[in-house]
Amino acid sequence: MKNLYDNLALAAKEARAHAYSPYSGYTVGAALLAKSGKIYLGSNIENASYSLTMCAERTAIYKAVSEGEKEFSAIAIAGAKSGEEVSSPFAPCGSCRQVLSEFCSPETAVLVVTDSGYDLYTLGELLPAGFGKKDLL
Ligand code: THU
Repeated sequence: MKNLYDNLALAAKEARAHAYSPYSGYTVGAALLAKSGKIYLGSNIENASYSLTMCAERTAIYKAVSEGEKEFSAIAIAGAKSGEEVSSPFAPCGSCRQVLSEFCSPETAVLVVTDSGYDLYTLGELLPAGFGKKDLL
């Protein structure tokens, strides 16, 4: 598991290279591990109409689901100012936690990349008592 998570953290850092963030200057990369074993990458994609900006995590999950994946075991996220190395970790925004919860379980690992490795959370820790399909189906 250690090497797998190390690789996922590295992939998230590398995915920052494709961020499109001319407005905030903040670049985010995400690497999402599907239960199939495949890794899907995402980056933040901003828009001149600011509210249309898409976060890196949701880019990754929408890519994966649109290619047939529905189950995931982990996601790694790396963010920093454009041109800078990842230093202080940040956890996913509320919208991304909600979208992740649609396809992930409370046990799904969320790796928040730091300068020296990653902090490990579960989605259940980051989104306790969330709204979901159990409330509708
Ligand atoms: N952003 C993400 O990509 N993921 C998050 O979880 C929080 C924020 C992006 C959106 C925007 O392009 C930039 O970071 C600054 O908010």
